Amino acid sequence: MFSKYKKAAPTPAPAPAEKVTELPKADSPAKVARKANTQAPAQVTPMDKERKRKERIGEIKLELHRALLDNLNLAALEHASEQDLRQEIIAITGEVLEEKNIILNREDRQTLNQELFDEVTGLGPLETLLKDDTVNDILVNGPKQIFVERAGKLQLTDITFKDERHLLRIIDKIVSAVGRRVDESNPYVDARLQDGSRFNAMVPPIAVDGSLVSIRKFKKDKLGVDDLVQFGAFTEEMAAYLQAAVATRLNIIVSGGTGSGKTTTLNALSSFIDNAERILTIEDTAELQLQQTHVGRMESRPPNVEGKGEVSPRDCLKNALRMRPDRIIVGETRGEEVIDMLQAMNTGHDGSMTTIHANSARDGISRLENMIAMAGIEMPIKAVRSQVSSAVNLIVQASRLQDGSRRMTSITEITGMEGDVISMQEIFRYQRVGLTPDNKIIGHFTATGVRSHFAERFRLWGYDLPASIYEPVAAE
Ligand SMILES: Nc1ncnc2c1ncn2[C@@H]1O[C@H](COP(=O)(O)OP(=O)(O)OP(=O)(O)O)[C@@H](O)[C@H]1O
Ligand SMILES: [Mg+2]
Repeated sequence: MFSKYKKAAPTPAPAPAEKVTELPKADSPAKVARKANTQAPAQVTPMDKERKRKERIGEIKLELHRALLDNLNLAALEHASEQDLRQEIIAITGEVLEEKNIILNREDRQTLNQELFDEVTGLGPLETLLKDDTVNDILVNGPKQIFVERAGKLQLTDITFKDERHLLRIIDKIVSAVGRRVDESNPYVDARLQDGSRFNAMVPPIAVDGSLVSIRKFKKDKLGVDDLVQFGAFTEEMAAYLQAAVATRLNIIVSGGTGSGKTTTLNALSSFIDNAERILTIEDTAELQLQQTHVGRMESRPPNVEGKGEVSPRDCLKNALRMRPDRIIVGETRGEEVIDMLQAMNTGHDGSMTTIHANSARDGISRLENMIAMAGIEMPIKAVRSQVSSAVNLIVQASRLQDGSRRMTSITEITGMEGDVISMQEIFRYQRVGLTPDNKIIGHFTATGVRSHFAERFRLWGYDLPASIYEPVAAE
């Protein structure tokens, strides 16, 4: 049986069987009696049966998993072929089930084997969700509650961890793979999964009801401009406008709330950049997938356990300026790097782009002002605003609406200063008009009727957009 991968010694051979004999547990007579007392003539509904069956399989699985871990030589496993490993798992499950006199149907057996395989090689219960392409986010609130986001909506799954220890073991597996640690004294951590997904975990006691895990799934095929137009995120006219804006090197900020589609929008916008340009990207977790040939990617690094070795986004940005970029793309501006970002935008690296967390273009500007103040730059507000207004040309607002749809709800140009105030004009917006009975938002995109401040620039650069794209669309 465990010929190739079995630990040589000292594990006593019958260990798995011994452990397994404890399970599955039948209800003790006392418990049964209690149940009989409290419940009217025991009615077992099909749902109860199903739940019981799942619990039973869960328990067998846990025992089998322990048995596998206890008995398999994990170092040898790393080099085992998938087929070999699967065969070993099938063999041990078969043996234990037979020994325990447990009969499972084919489907249950297959699920059990797959789950065991996922436990040994991957991230356990999370593995199925990671493989599910319809899932965008995975959110774990303690071992018994896993939510996923599909098509902008959160759904509770019936997938669970056995207990907090199980969850912690998987978290540990993830963070130790990237050389980090998470424990009581170091209770939260960011990491990147092997497939590129963004991972954050916070463990007790800071996480009160069990560890909290958030995963933003990495999409191999990022949504492109055509996909986004097709999904109704924005219109072809808006795409034509944005193409002109990117190609003529306007500095663009994508603003939006959490998970509103900022990174996706930034990535899609980047497709309008000419292939001959040298682009440098700076991110906390490398998510952008640029199609151009000349791309230098940077990933900032948080301090290690001893508080050393940090390479901040600002460090990357400063260094990027010495690397002869044509454009700089910063995944998200949230701190003191704002200073260097604005400076870069103002001094020859026009056509740069970034994202910020904000709910509207105006709000985005205030966020930038706040970041500058927080970075300790003492400048009169007017000077700050004049810096911002000359650096930023365009703010694109990404939103996740209440029905889960993600749309570009506004495209706003910064046109200069009027007195102490930054002046801006909205060119396109998403006009909401109502709600269907099943709570889908009714609305449409429209131009505001304002001609672009950059129309002449577009024309000079060969992007002569027809005047019609600036005309408002009447509601149907
Ligand atoms: N218009 C869209 N239609 C459908 N799905 C979308 C759309 N835009 C983005 N998504 C999906 O929504 C998820 C979140 O998108 P994205 O990572 O771009 O958001 P974000 O605003 O950058 O999030 P965060 O604030 O966490 O960085 C992704 O899985 C992405 O594929
Ligand atoms: Mg993002």
